[in-house]
Amino acid sequence: MRTLIKNGTVVTAAETSHADVLIADERVAAVGVGLVESEEGLDRVIDATDRYVMPGGVDVHTHFDLPFGGSFCSDDFGTGTRAAAFGGTTTCVDFAVQDYGKTLREGLDTWFQKAEKAQTDYGLHMIVREVNDQTLDEMDGLIGEGITSFKLFMAYPGVFMLDDASIFRAMQRAAASGALILMHAENGGPINVLVDQLLADGKTDPQYHGISRPAAMEGEAVHRAFKLAELAGTPAYIVHLSSRDALDAVREARDRGLPAFAETCPQYLYLSHDDMARPGFEGSKFVCSPPLRPADHQEDLWAGLRQGDLQVVSTDHAPFNYKGQKELGVGNFAKIPNGLPSVEDRFTLLFQGVVNGHIGLSRFVELASTAPARMMGLYPRKGTIAAGFDADIVVFDPNHERTISAETHHMNVDYSCYEGWTVKGLPEIVMQRGTVLVEGDEWHGKEGGGKFLPRSRSQFLT
Ligand code: URP
Ligand code: ZN
Ligand code: ZN
Repeated sequence: MRTLIKNGTVVTAAETSHADVLIADERVAAVGVGLVESEEGLDRVIDATDRYVMPGGVDVHTHFDLPFGGSFCSDDFGTGTRAAAFGGTTTCVDFAVQDYGKTLREGLDTWFQKAEKAQTDYGLHMIVREVNDQTLDEMDGLIGEGITSFKLFMAYPGVFMLDDASIFRAMQRAAASGALILMHAENGGPINVLVDQLLADGKTDPQYHGISRPAAMEGEAVHRAFKLAELAGTPAYIVHLSSRDALDAVREARDRGLPAFAETCPQYLYLSHDDMARPGFEGSKFVCSPPLRPADHQEDLWAGLRQGDLQVVSTDHAPFNYKGQKELGVGNFAKIPNGLPSVEDRFTLLFQGVVNGHIGLSRFVELASTAPARMMGLYPRKGTIAAGFDADIVVFDPNHERTISAETHHMNVDYSCYEGWTVKGLPEIVMQRGTVLVEGDEWHGKEGGGKFLPRSRSQFLT
């Protein structure tokens, strides 16, 4: 199968050029001009005039089918990866979860079963809920299977939270093995005290979720995470960074030359505490952790993306329906399942950063595809358009204006955080390994069509 994408503007993290892309079977064969003498013998020619030709998006933080807060995320691997592809994302890295009293292996096997439905390629991180001699040994073993990153929690006491000694032990093991530690950095102890006090005062509305989780407690946790990582001699990566306080702690560590990394998410760039304070119970649609911050944090996060202190934009896609799921927290904000849907919107929302002058076009590709692929050990297979890479390609119309709505999105969730927003840009054709998954409104993928991606160690560490 040979496909030529011609007349487009090929955009990578390194450059933007008018070039054609020749695909042979699953891989990019060549990028350049005059690649074929004749179009005869090609199976398909795609005319990308006035289009950007970009590497498929890599979202390294999704939660499909996750049990959380008394409910399950409403997208499974089938619906979630399909929605991702409609939005221009062709690789997702999801989080397998260790259950209390169970091994990492058991948690991983459960996730492999869930992932049988995947319609795009995917990788897996592992959430470690209990650190003991056995799980530490298992961490080493999983690296050989391509699970090279482990998420630890400083928040959610009694659910996910680990004490500092356990975190430190896991970090020491990562230092020895080359695994990457991913950290949910919020100080769960004082947060739970505040939760109890607010509820006792009758402050039960969704906005109090935000009040109970101050940015200072994220900043403190990020600072502590990097101090522990420094002591253990290992790199660390902060997931879903939301605030100026946390960014300052990342900067401080990086300025001292530490291998300190972080991602932020579209919700922290575009939404704010005011959304959680919408009238009635509407604010529950915006409840996630860390919470949305006052809008003045957003400029700092954009600056962090420009200046390189933030390396990745992921989604932390964790969708719960408003009806029946978010509603579990009516009268008690602490019972609202935490998480927002956005796996379909990330690529286009981040592209609005180009439209609005926050970032350049190559930086967009770097944040959406190249850096996440390198950070999570998927390079040189995913993350750019170059000979030998998987032909995961988005033909993107940058001038197409459209309105985001739950009525037209493909995520299995009954609302959109961006309902009614007008955005520029449409992933018109989305290919995975040389096969078209999305063409306009049409879906050509299938459940089980996505491949598991064993990952190498983070290439940001080498
Ligand atoms: O609110 C969030 N972030 N839900 C998903 C779980 C997590 O901590 O990433
Ligand atoms: Zn988290
Ligand atoms: Zn998450």
